[in-house]
Amino acid sequence: MNRVIVYQSKTGHTEAYAKLLAERLNCKVLDSKAFNRNTASEYNQYIFMGWLRAAKIAGLNAFLRKVDPDSNIVIGAVGASPKSHDYTEKVRNANFQDKNSYPLYYFQGGFDPEKLTFPLKVMLKKVADSIKKKQEKNPEILTDEDKEFLSFFQNKHSEVSEENLEDILNYLQE
Ligand SMILES: Cc1cc2nc3c(=O)[nH]c(=O)nc-3n(C[C@H](O)[C@H](O)[C@H](O)COP(=O)(O)O)c2cc1C
Repeated sequence: MNRVIVYQSKTGHTEAYAKLLAERLNCKVLDSKAFNRNTASEYNQYIFMGWLRAAKIAGLNAFLRKVDPDSNIVIGAVGASPKSHDYTEKVRNANFQDKNSYPLYYFQGGFDPEKLTFPLKVMLKKVADSIKKKQEKNPEILTDEDKEFLSFFQNKHSEVSEENLEDILNYLQE
């Protein structure tokens, strides 16, 4: 099998997962900017990994335009919430109309404010402010997911680890 991992990362956590996975699978890994239709034709399995931005997997649609949608494709999403079945399903519903589209794996990433561009800082503040407003009205209505989301963005940290790749590795090495 000729496999490639393509990633889109803003602050490095998705890139770190993509590179760890490529090491474990001994396959090629490419930044999405270096991936085009010509490059795509060299491979027959694609793993696309993108970071979550306002519930969407960054770069996913552009990636899907470069490959045959019926080819062997596996998707990875990297975000703020801790990994859970429910969160993975939420990510799936926000990104795919067809529930059975592609195998999807979710990974918890990290936060590095120094690497965020100004527009993304503004975007993040808007998301955090809307959760905080909810809290001011009634602290009881904050879900565990809201609380975890807010605390994720308090300080610089990384949750990237090789152990988090276990599920996708089990699937790919079947
Ligand atoms: C503007 C912005 C919006 C985000 N939206 C989400 C989101 O909707 N869901 C989520 O789980 N994480 C969200 N995150 C968290 C990032 O996906 C997380 O920090 C990820 O590790 C970033 O990956 P990167 O380092 O590869 O860029 C958001 C982060 C930023 C800065």
